[in-house]
Amino acid sequence: MAKKVVVIGGGPGGYVAAIRAAQLGAETHLVEKENLGGTCLNVGCIPTKALLHTAELYHAVKHGNHIGLVGDSVQIDWKALINRKNSVVRRLVGGVAGLLKANGVVVHKGRGQLTRPGVVQVHGNTAETLSADIVILSTGSVPVKLNFPGVDLPGVVDSTGVLSLEKLPASLTIIGGGVIGVEFAALFAALGSKVTVVELLPEILPGIDADLAANLKQSLSKKGVAFLNGAKLEEVSQANGALSAKVMLGMETKEIAAEIVLVAVGRRAYTEGAGLEAVGVKIERGKVIVDDHYQTNLPGVYAIGDCNGITMLAHAASHQGIAAVEHALGHGANRHGKPIVPACVYTHPELASVGITEDEAKKMGIIYKKGVFPLAGNGKSMIDEGESGFVKILAESKYGEILGVHIVGPRATEIIGEATLAMRLEATVEELVSTIHAHPTVSESLGEAALAVDNLAIHWPPSIKA
Ligand code: NAI
Repeated sequence: MAKKVVVIGGGPGGYVAAIRAAQLGAETHLVEKENLGGTCLNVGCIPTKALLHTAELYHAVKHGNHIGLVGDSVQIDWKALINRKNSVVRRLVGGVAGLLKANGVVVHKGRGQLTRPGVVQVHGNTAETLSADIVILSTGSVPVKLNFPGVDLPGVVDSTGVLSLEKLPASLTIIGGGVIGVEFAALFAALGSKVTVVELLPEILPGIDADLAANLKQSLSKKGVAFLNGAKLEEVSQANGALSAKVMLGMETKEIAAEIVLVAVGRRAYTEGAGLEAVGVKIERGKVIVDDHYQTNLPGVYAIGDCNGITMLAHAASHQGIAAVEHALGHGANRHGKPIVPACVYTHPELASVGITEDEAKKMGIIYKKGVFPLAGNGKSMIDEGESGFVKILAESKYGEILGVHIVGPRATEIIGEATLAMRLEATVEELVSTIHAHPTVSESLGEAALAVDNLAIHWPPSIKA
């Protein structure tokens, strides 16, 4: 008899898990309390990238004299921009619904609650009880809320609220210089808003290779973004129709006036309302604890994506969903191996990374070799105005296995795919060197950075050994 799978949560973890379960012959049900597609499709990856697309075109045209684009009559139509973003989201969410239907997945609208292992209660317009051999929890994450005086003032928004502003703000203060903070900084600066980023730590983008973060900070600073690092938000107040953020910078107090204050200080796993603790699912510091197959301490109950807090990225959630379902249904238990997860930041220039950073290699005591290729030596990067970027490859020193690839520059978020596959196949620097890259492409720089590991790049002079 077909196994019965119930998935709670329809984001990129949950809906992908449901489709895979149906492909493997399970009777599959998916419970979603809001919209299919979750944070990623509705208020995360997709809408932000739709806005960034227009912002980058606008900025390129507005500042394009040097590339032969003259005239500055192009204007931002904020309403049209938001409508277009909403239409992209609608089409993709509709697509997910269509895919689930085509695979025979039954979608239940409502909040799913695990009442005991193997039983899920749906609290929707009508109450339903679903029995299940396997339950996949995919309940996602929500923005971390900071508690400061003024947090509830109109104009103080989180990463969801900022996507539905009535008009383009002339000025914006962003609290948090992580991925969300810098992506919105890039977006609004490109649209012409005055942007200030307030970050607690000495540098932006914690966890990202420090050279990449420094390069991006420099590029965004040139576009007018002001960065206050080592700065702590004290309070937000309202005066003369504008917001004022009071920030401590060492012993100094600074007041930053802006129309909008965006708080982007991280996301936390969302597990409330799904009945997890009551049925005995182990949760520590808000995250569902899972084993290597994403199974919780309760047999047959799995937790994937942001709710287990392992890697809060949409593509990691999808991968975990497939791996969990395949394990649960006894299919191809070992084909996934150790997850190698690329990470991308959609700013201009783009950042992309896979594997360990230099800081991590040092902390782990790994002896590594490094090759850096500046994009000033790559024709396509120059054409794309990305010659200030670079590709950095870290390789294990004896056999040259690739340990990490870090890119800042045009199309970085696409090129990282090749590096991810290389690492998945445990490729060496030599194998990247002997791979033919099409010309002219930015991806040629991967081969050049691999050559640079031994100081043998073709399109960059050898560095002089001391
Ligand atoms: P984050 O953890 O990346 O960054 C939060 C930043 O806020 C940190 O730099 C932290 O030091 C700073 N911070 C914390 N408290 C602060 C305070 N009181 N004052 C000033 N700064 C403070 O979190 P973020 O940017 O909110 O992103 C959340 C999650 O969403 C991340 O896991 C991220 O990977 C994911 N995401 C991924 C994207 C992508 O893949 N392109 C895009 C957007 C989000």
